[in-house]
Amino acid sequence: MMDKKHITERDIVLEIKDLQKSFGDNHVINGFNLKLYQGENLVIMGKSGSGKSVMIKCLVGLMELDSGSISVMDKDITNLDQRALDILRADIGFLFQGSALYDSMTVRENLEFPLRRHSDRFDETNTEAMVMEALESVGLIHAIDLMPSELSGGMQKRVALARTLILKPKIMLYDEPTSGLDPITSKEIIMLMQEIQKKYGTSSLIITHDVDCARVISDRMILLIDGTNYAEGSFADLSKREDPKIKAFFKNK
Ligand SMILES: Nc1ncnc2c1ncn2[C@@H]1O[C@H](COP(=O)(O)OP(=O)(O)O)[C@@H](O)[C@H]1O
Ligand SMILES: [Mg+2]
Repeated sequence: MMDKKHITERDIVLEIKDLQKSFGDNHVINGFNLKLYQGENLVIMGKSGSGKSVMIKCLVGLMELDSGSISVMDKDITNLDQRALDILRADIGFLFQGSALYDSMTVRENLEFPLRRHSDRFDETNTEAMVMEALESVGLIHAIDLMPSELSGGMQKRVALARTLILKPKIMLYDEPTSGLDPITSKEIIMLMQEIQKKYGTSSLIITHDVDCARVISDRMILLIDGTNYAEGSFADLSKREDPKIKAFFKNK
């Protein structure tokens, strides 16, 4: 007889089924599937131009899908209205490729921004404490009154991360979190992602083509080729495979 533990699926916090997305004749995503489980770090690796950002934009409603379905914590988000989508979005933190801070605002104002957008969910007398806590978790309290232009690339990324964390998302989406950063700063960001996972118990979807990042952070990986799931497994498993298409991901570096 099977133990109950084995037949009960772990909680799925996010699920994509048969996602398709084309731009004219450019069929970018051709039936992509994924399940993100509570508390895990799922890495999606794909070459540049393979549709990683398109997929994540469909996921957060910045782009419309052609077909397929996306559900977040058991709610189908493909057909939600704007209001419902906004509420749900507070549960999903999205760290853009590039940090996308508001250049004309100080670090503090950048962090206050999402709180104001979701003011129905948060007590505004708490703003100061929330800003401090988020900055503290990325080690940048001292930068609170600086402008983004006064920060290094790595610091900007950390502020962007703090701005995402301030809403205490249950799911974190990272689009190429280490791209454009030097190796040492990349390592710092990866460590920070791990700390955040521990501190907040988030589930994370990490899009990357950085092998080092994938090695360190992934519990599980999906390799995206030709717009679909080409292979899935742990880093240790996939990096041992003989398939040349899979090998290519792990070769450089
Ligand atoms: N808004 C858009 N309009 C037309 N084509 C797009 C658009 N966004 C992305 N694409 C195309 O989709 C493909 C995948 O892009 P992208 O998801 O950015 O790749 P990456 O895996 O590097 O993140 C590319 O061929 C790109 O040209
Ligand atoms: Mg991209």
